[in-house]
Amino acid sequence: MLDILALSGSLRAASLNTALLRAAQALAPAGMTIEIYEGLGALPLFNPDLDPRAFPNVTAFLIRAAQADALLIACPEYARGIPGAFKNALDWLVGCEDFGAKKVALLNASARATAAQDALRLVLTTMAMEIVEPASVTVPLAGAHGDPAAILADAEIAARLASALETLAEALAA
Ligand SMILES: Cc1cc2nc3c(=O)[nH]c(=O)nc-3n(C[C@H](O)[C@H](O)[C@H](O)COP(=O)(O)O)c2cc1C
Repeated sequence: MLDILALSGSLRAASLNTALLRAAQALAPAGMTIEIYEGLGALPLFNPDLDPRAFPNVTAFLIRAAQADALLIACPEYARGIPGAFKNALDWLVGCEDFGAKKVALLNASARATAAQDALRLVLTTMAMEIVEPASVTVPLAGAHGDPAAILADAEIAARLASALETLAEALAA
């Protein structure tokens, strides 16, 4: 079973990016499970002076992320960059010795949000992550897509998402 850990770059309750990951959960191909990590907003601010073992939620996040076969990231753009709360989570991973090279697929919910996607690619490749480009897709969402059911009901978007997940599964099997 392929174990995919999904990370949303948005803490917003009605987040389009989180809805996109929930839709991806429903579309996971046979042999793949997708878990959305819910605790990113509760992580303390990263500081290299801090010992991650002093924070049970940081430890849990680092262990869970290290266990996963791959990450699936959907992240919005804030002020032409990566939202601070999400960069904070990535910084905790940077400081984790057990977190080696890992495959990652990027879902982009906005065709406009090119700067954040470029920044994410730079950060992730600096972290020695391998971005699976054929599994990384832009699926432009509108406000009406705030509900995962609405994303699944959009045949074109659902097909692109399902295809990206199949491609990720193939990349992991290779
Ligand atoms: C503080 C803030 C800054 C934003 N800056 C940008 C931006 O620079 N470029 C852009 O395309 N969208 C920007 N947006 C729009 C968000 O990316 C958009 O609302 C997105 O849907 C938020 O993701 P979410 O729905 O998953 O919370 C910004 C939104 C907020 C709240």
